[in-house]
Parts: sequence; C-alpha cells; structure tokens
Amino acid sequence: MQEQIKNINTLEELQALYTATFGKNGTMTMRLREMKNLDNKARAALNLENTELRELFKTRQNEIENEILIAGLKKQKLDVSLNAAPENRGTLHPMTQSLVEISFILESFGYKPYTGPEIEDDWHNFTALNTPAHHPARDMQDTFFLPNGNVMRTQTSAIQIRAMESDGVPIKMFGIGSTYRKEMDATHGPMFGQIEGLYIDKDITMSDLIADIRAFLKRFFEMDEVVLRIRPSFFPFTDPSIEVDLKWKNDKWLEIMGAGMVHPNVLRNCGINPDEYQGFAFGFGWDRLAMLKYNLPDLRDFRGNDIRWLKSAGF
Ligand code: DAH
Repeated sequence: MQEQIKNINTLEELQALYTATFGKNGTMTMRLREMKNLDNKARAALNLENTELRELFKTRQNEIENEILIAGLKKQKLDVSLNAAPENRGTLHPMTQSLVEISFILESFGYKPYTGPEIEDDWHNFTALNTPAHHPARDMQDTFFLPNGNVMRTQTSAIQIRAMESDGVPIKMFGIGSTYRKEMDATHGPMFGQIEGLYIDKDITMSDLIADIRAFLKRFFEMDEVVLRIRPSFFPFTDPSIEVDLKWKNDKWLEIMGAGMVHPNVLRNCGINPDEYQGFAFGFGWDRLAMLKYNLPDLRDFRGNDIRWLKSAGF
C-alpha cells in the first residue's frame, strides 16, 4: 500500500485510492469495524497503521500539489530576452528641465525659493519697486493692464517685494516664474520667464553679487571659466545698476541679466531700514538661459508646445 501511494502521480488517482481505503466500504474502514475481535496488541498495530496511512496520503497530496504549482509557474515564465515594441517616453520640457537645474543651483548657494501671483497689483509690480505712477521707467515694459487696474506681472521683481514684506530681513531668496509683455519677435514672446534673486543683510556688496553670478553661470552652463562684462545700466529699483554680458562659445557677448544694489526706497517700501541693511538683486531671462543651454534658436518654437519640434530638438 505504502509503495502504491508513493507511485501515484495525480490527485484524482490519489483520491480514488483514498476512498477505496477510508471510504464507507473502504478496506481500512472494514478492518477497523472488525477491530473488536482483535487482541490488544493487534488493535494497537492497526491503529498505528491507520494513522500512518492517513499521513502518507496527506504527504503525497502535498507533494503532487506542489509539483502542479511548479509546472504551472514554469509554463508562465516570461522570455525577457524578447525585443519589446519601441515605447514613446516623455521627457521634461526644456523650461521645466532648466527650472529644476536653476533651482537646484541657487538653493545650493543658500537662496530660498519664493513664488508670487502672475496677476499682480500695481504696488508689487511697480510702485514698491521705486517705479511710482507716471515714472518714465514704466515705459521700459509694455504692460498688459487688466480692467481693475491690476497687471499681468511684467517682472519677477514683484516676488522680491512679496518676500521682503512677508519674511523681512536678512533674506536670501529667488523666484522663477512667467512674466508678460506686449512684444513678439524671434527672441521675445508675450509670455516669457524670469529668475529673480535677492540677498539683503548687513554687509552685502557688489562683489558678492558678481561672485554669485559667476558661480551660478559656471554651474548652469557647465563651463570651467566664465568671462563677464559688467556694464552700468539703469533700473529704478537698483542703484547702482548693472547689466552683465557673458562671453559665449563663439566669442560673442550675450546680454544675459540685469542686477544691482537694491535702491534704498525699495527697502523703505518694505519696512526695512536702508541705513542698517543693504544688498543686491538680479534678474535673468529664464527662456534665454534655457535656449542657450540647449542650443534652441527660436523662442516661438520653444514655447509652441509642438511635440514634433520638441522631438526634433532632442527632447
Ligand atoms: N526686472 C528687470 C527686467 O525685467 C530685471 C532685473 C534687473 C531684475 C535688475 C532685478 C535687478 O532684480 O536688480 O528687466
């Protein structure tokens, strides 16, 4: 019997033998029924045989079930060496990619990220930035005005005002965001992006500004050395104001940013004493930086959201 059980290979056959042994008229059932005629020793032997047989059935059942499971798993095995159909994978848009890189670099320099609304009020976009109504510098930016007197933010400089108003000084912050002006050609669109930086503390100087700009450009463009040209300029919210040109790979000068020492009026407008605190601010063109880094010539394609163009440009 023991041998017989061991040689069974299917659950059906095992079940059949089990019924023939332990079923209503099974061989073991019959023998157990006659047990009363046996002496003690024979009874004990029969009991033992009964228990061992049942265990043997159970063991064989487990073994067969396991074999079935393993055979099933073997059949399901995936052939991972088979070539898969090519898959279209998305990538980050160059604006997003540059946003991540710029934020990473500025944060590593200790600048804290801030945001502000794209529909901005006159105070944050102009007046607090030392550009009161009728100030001629308002003409530097062709503004989209909204019927209620608000504007589409023309510059991320508005974010520095919000940051100083909410957190005071000392402050080391940056903001990246969309800005809007009425202009349209190959290098200008009505919607573009800017990066704003601000560092105000007790003894911040123009050389700190230039050092940070240089370090930032080196990291962002992955250049060993950057050659800068610092030109005097005018912005109502900085004094002195500068413009920074970067010597590009083709030896041409690229106008890359505006910056300067924050005007005392701007600090006063944010409730900060300019005799105690001073510092610098800078503003980059976000699109400009991304176009240069990824070698993309036309801003309109760049912001056009045409996936064919993005693919052809390597994104
Ligand atoms: N807001 C200026 C612009 O849109 C850029 C700029 C210049 C920002 C100088 C600054 C700065 O913070 O100090 O042209």
